[in-house]
Amino acid sequence: MPKKTGPLVAVLMGSKSDWECMRHASETLAKFGVAHECKVLSAHRTPLQTAEFAAGAEERGVEVIIAAAGGAAHLAGVVAAHTVLPVLGVPMESASLKGLDSLLSTAQMPGGIPVGTLAIGKPGAVNAALLAVAILANSRPPLRKKLKQFREELAAGILGATLP
Ligand code: RP5
Repeated sequence: MPKKTGPLVAVLMGSKSDWECMRHASETLAKFGVAHECKVLSAHRTPLQTAEFAAGAEERGVEVIIAAAGGAAHLAGVVAAHTVLPVLGVPMESASLKGLDSLLSTAQMPGGIPVGTLAIGKPGAVNAALLAVAILANSRPPLRKKLKQFREELAAGILGATLP
C-alpha cells in the first residue's frame, strides 16, 4: 500500500473564536514537525459535515483527532462516535462558567465511546498536541527522540531557574 502523506493529526474546533486558544495546539504540532490540519466544524451548527469528516478521517490517513469546543461542548464526543481513532478533547474557556461547562461536557462521556480530555484552555491545547505526538511516537522512533529532548529542555528550564 502506498505511504499516505496527508495530515496525521486533525485539529477541530467548534468556532473560529476557538482559534486564539487552539493555535497553541497547531504551533506545538508544528514544533515537532507533525503534519496536521486545522478546521472549524461544529457538532450543532454543521452536524452532517462533522460526522462525515470524522467517519472519513481514518481513510485519509489521520491517526489522532483533537477536538475543541466550549459551552455544551459535544464536538469531541460526536467525533468519537463516528471514528475509532483516538479523540482528544480540549474544553474551551466559556464566558458564563469559565470552561467548567465545557470540561464536564467533554470529559463525562458514558462508557463505550472514549474522549481523552485535557485541561481547559491553552494548557489543554498544548497538552493535546503533546499527547498526539506521544501517540504517534509509539511507532516513530525519531518523534519519540524529539519528545524526550523536549522533556529534557523542560527539566533544564526548571533546574536553571534563577529567582529574584
Ligand atoms: C462552541 O461555542 C464553540 O466551540 C465556542 O467555544 C463556543 C462559542 O462559539 P461562538 O459563538 O464564538 O461561535 O460551539
